[in-house]
Amino acid sequence: MIKIRRHLQKDIPYRVKWLSNPNVNRFVGDEMGQKTNLKKEKEWFANYQKAKNKKFFTICDDSMPIGFMGLSNISKPNKNADLFIAIGEDDYHGKGIGKTAMEWIIDYGFNKLKLRKINLGVIKDNIPAVNLYKSLGFITEGKMKEEVFYKGKFHDFLSMAIFNRN
Ligand SMILES: CC(C)(COP(=O)(O)OP(=O)(O)OC[C@H]1O[C@@H](n2cnc3c(N)ncnc32)[C@H](O)[C@@H]1OP(=O)(O)O)[C@@H](O)C(=O)NCCC(=O)NCCS
Repeated sequence: MIKIRRHLQKDIPYRVKWLSNPNVNRFVGDEMGQKTNLKKEKEWFANYQKAKNKKFFTICDDSMPIGFMGLSNISKPNKNADLFIAIGEDDYHGKGIGKTAMEWIIDYGFNKLKLRKINLGVIKDNIPAVNLYKSLGFITEGKMKEEVFYKGKFHDFLSMAIFNRN
């Protein structure tokens, strides 16, 4: 059963594993395909604990962590934030978990944090992610041509958003 809990210090080794997975890191991070290590992720977590504008969660199959997601740049005045998700374990892709987790975090953003808008960025070639976001009601607000370099090629990048109109 899929469970979602706060992102915790004990998740650091999973962050290293997942962010080193080529099926994940080719689509996430500031530089695609960049690997990480325990030192970097410990630093990230220490900064995360101090940050007031980030809320991250771990997605679990019962008690086993399988991925993570979060809201960053949470702005109270603008009532918006940036969303990120990664199912880190390949065996768990394509089973409806991303969709369940996204519905949970959108509900959290709109109803708990009272956000009005949630933004995300995605490489246009990341078809599973783009389809997932569209199916949830995200619209494409902008397209940055040849924005991201990965494996010898520049890829287009989409800026997408979902609004809470209630
Ligand atoms: C993108 C990601 C979060 C999707 O999660 P998932 O659990 O694999 O996706 P789901 O099984 O919940 O699928 C939900 C929807 O996504 C789309 N989708 C998922 N896999 C797909 C695939 N292989 N091809 C096309 N569409 C796909 C479909 O619209 C699907 O809805 P449907 O089953 O009703 O058709 C996940 O694959 C992942 O973490 N990938 C690696 C990291 C990443 O790309 N993160 C996003 C960065 S922007």
